[in-house]
Amino acid sequence: MRKNIVAGNWKMNTTVPEGVALAHAVEAAVFAAPELKCEVIVGVPFTHLTAVKNVISKVKLAAENCADHKSGAYTGEVSAAMVASTGAEYVILGHSERRGYYNETIEMLKEKVDLALSNGLKVIFCCGESLDERKAGTHFDVIKNEIEGSLFHLNAEEFAKIVIAYEPIWAIGTGETATAEQAQEIHAFIRGLLAGKYGTQVADDTTILYGGSCKPSNAAELFAKPDIDGGLIGGASLKAEDFMGIVTAF
Ligand code: 13P
Repeated sequence: MRKNIVAGNWKMNTTVPEGVALAHAVEAAVFAAPELKCEVIVGVPFTHLTAVKNVISKVKLAAENCADHKSGAYTGEVSAAMVASTGAEYVILGHSERRGYYNETIEMLKEKVDLALSNGLKVIFCCGESLDERKAGTHFDVIKNEIEGSLFHLNAEEFAKIVIAYEPIWAIGTGETATAEQAQEIHAFIRGLLAGKYGTQVADDTTILYGGSCKPSNAAELFAKPDIDGGLIGGASLKAEDFMGIVTAF
């Protein structure tokens, strides 16, 4: 049976003390919550990983990126091994902001996925179409290419360490959420794609998250859909109360 997950992606927000306070508040709320039906993850900037790890135990830790090289002369980069050494369990890869602003390609992401897995990290792999691509009706192809190109070289055992996050670019930070029906349509398409490659058992066991203006007021409707197993949350993960409103939506 697949896990439900609600993961925060803080992006480039909070100083270290602010981040530690936020993580502490989330941990306290998760600890006090009676019976959560999902795993809770905070995705934080590299600078915050070690300090945040010290104030969480029920809440799991994710980095927002890692390098596409193992080690060496890559000034400013942070390797998968470095991320793993902080105690992080997950790394978010392929976010549309990284693809768009930092020119991350399908091929680079394949390298990052391999390095993450070989260092014992689980991957939250993001995919999603732009507004133009949706209008042109190419959204299914875009998602298929992103998933096939960076993940389908993995064997089934490796693929078990992958969480997929569908994040339509037009819904990120815009306040415009995909409808639960639109999201469900894509999630079912992704699960079908996985079934075709790895079989129905692996497809059924894969957690597929929705991201894009997910908030306490719309989370329950999204999470009620059969193929939506939780959320990857940007803006609403920066306030413990809002984030917990989504966590408790299950
Ligand atoms: P928002 O929740 O701010 O729309 O961001 C979604 C996102 O990009 C999570 O990775």
